[in-house]
Amino acid sequence: MMDLLYLLVWLVVLFNVVAILMILCGDADIALQIKSKFGKSVESLAGQVVWITGASSGIGEELAYELARAGCRLVLSARRTKELERVKKECMLRGSVKDEDILILTLDSIDFASHKSAVDKVLAHFKHIDVLVNNAGRSQRAEWMKTALQVDRDMLELNVLGVLSLSKLVLPHMAERKSGHIVNVSSVAGKLGAPLSGSYTGAKHAVQGWFDALRVEVGEKNIYVTNICPGPVFSNILAVAFTENAGEELKSQMNPNEKRMKTDRCAYLMGVAIANKMWEVWITRNPVLLFCYANQYLPNVAKWMGCRMGLKAIQKIREGQN
Ligand SMILES: NC(=O)c1ccc[n+]([C@@H]2O[C@H](COP(=O)([O-])OP(=O)(O)OC[C@H]3O[C@@H](n4cnc5c(N)ncnc54)[C@H](OP(=O)(O)O)[C@@H]3O)[C@@H](O)[C@H]2O)c1
Repeated sequence: MMDLLYLLVWLVVLFNVVAILMILCGDADIALQIKSKFGKSVESLAGQVVWITGASSGIGEELAYELARAGCRLVLSARRTKELERVKKECMLRGSVKDEDILILTLDSIDFASHKSAVDKVLAHFKHIDVLVNNAGRSQRAEWMKTALQVDRDMLELNVLGVLSLSKLVLPHMAERKSGHIVNVSSVAGKLGAPLSGSYTGAKHAVQGWFDALRVEVGEKNIYVTNICPGPVFSNILAVAFTENAGEELKSQMNPNEKRMKTDRCAYLMGVAIANKMWEVWITRNPVLLFCYANQYLPNVAKWMGCRMGLKAIQKIREGQN
């Protein structure tokens, strides 16, 4: 009996040591790390129709390449048609997809009135939608107290209402087919409070809440909901980020030496999360990954740590300058 107890204690200790090592050395939460080694591969998505919004640059663009390589049929959306054409060409070079397998659909996420005809166009072309990836979005750098209410409003329109509008039009089609998958590109700012990004943090938390509520409702209809939370990743996001003033762009460039995740690595892990229909994933290097775990399991300790570290130290980590 004592031997069994010792064995159990050792197993628990071993389990915790392995978990801590995976968190310290990994660039994604433990479940996603395991799925990337032993779960379904991105190639298992071959043939599926995946609609990616915000596919003209950054994470959305790289996800398009990852999925094209896997043999998915794609709908590429964003406002800049020329950039979408460039991404389509590159998808055809990198993947075994034909011209008719990739539909370019110019779309403004906040032109809600145009969303219905966009969905109709996709259905007319592909007859169905397997996965909708709500990726289009913009970030922010601004002091909370100085941020104009109009900026909060604009952020909610793009990063929340745009996502809700398109999803609400695609979901009935998925429900009718009894099959579908909604994927939201949230952020670790959808889990933690990111200083100097108040409106962005609020918007990403809202998306998480909205879709966490949906998950069980549509589960019975065989529709899956995945919230993806990346940490700092190389992209165009800082160039066009919101500031404290409405209509202004940050126009900041990322330095290639910064400690951000490479865009293709982020896209690969997103592909794994989609292929394995995971509920929520965190894709980020340390120390941000450690913060995510601390915030989830020891919320008061994490918030105390954040206040002790202060604004400058947290900003350095966010901007990959630590
Ligand atoms: N990079 C990061 O560190 C990071 C971290 C966590 C989460 N994220 C999230 O990842 C997603 C993609 O961002 P990214 O980093 O790849 O930035 P990005 O390179 O700036 O890409 C943003 C994409 O969103 C599109 N977009 C912006 N406003 C739009 C609008 N009104 N209508 C339609 N499309 C619009 C852009 O296309 P057009 O300009 O052509 O319309 C672009 O394709 C965002 O939701 C962001 O919040 C990024």
